[in-house]
Amino acid sequence: MSHNIVVAIDGYSSCGKSTLAKALAKKLHFIYVDSGAMYRAVTLFFQRNNINIEDMTDVERALKDIHLNFHSRDYQTHITLNGEEVSDEIREMAVSEQVSEVSAIKAVRREMVKQQQRMGKSKDIVMDGRDIGTTVFPEAQVKIFMTADPKIRAERRFKELQLKNSPVTLEEVFENLAHRDYQDTTRKESPLTRAEDAIILDNTELTPEEQLNFALDKVEPFINSRQQK
Ligand code: DC
Repeated sequence: MSHNIVVAIDGYSSCGKSTLAKALAKKLHFIYVDSGAMYRAVTLFFQRNNINIEDMTDVERALKDIHLNFHSRDYQTHITLNGEEVSDEIREMAVSEQVSEVSAIKAVRREMVKQQQRMGKSKDIVMDGRDIGTTVFPEAQVKIFMTADPKIRAERRFKELQLKNSPVTLEEVFENLAHRDYQDTTRKESPLTRAEDAIILDNTELTPEEQLNFALDKVEPFINSRQQK
């Protein structure tokens, strides 16, 4: 293979980034990495071990004890934290409520970015998150910045949580998304922002299939030009 292809998908919370990223990776046989799951798993570890996030010595020490791994089954991403499957637990509200604070910590970002860059070094990859096109892979061939109406986003996430019998209200979900958007866009360390060369995708009124076709259109020229070399 001459040069691997990297697709960076960034955007606000609950915009459908992972749904699109997964579908795209499946269609193209690329690897899919959910970078948000990594920050969530770190948050879960900190909560379980009562790590004081104000104390950087504590944080740095804890980071050394965290080993994350992805494995995929049927293109569903599973993440393990020190060997334990935590894919469901990291989606619960307890983690959602603290993940923005944890992901704003410089040492946490430094470690996660290092691991993410290693994953995209030689393989075709789709990675979704907040800083993928700006910090993790500024050289990505395709960058998509996703957005959608906040009310629609809250309703989508609420329905997902209801399916899991989570006792949360629509208002709580809306507040949590607003809080995370605020934290993610205003933090000091690589805040969520659109890379200059990212294409905006507002999916408020788009079906998953329309979004996939939009993304395929952007990636296919790179695949074709590689095949011609
Ligand atoms: O994509 P998500 O909602 O699962 O991400 C959870 C949190 O992790 C999100 O509120 C911000 C943070 N995050 C980040 O700071 N950088 C990334 N690349 C991905 C996620």
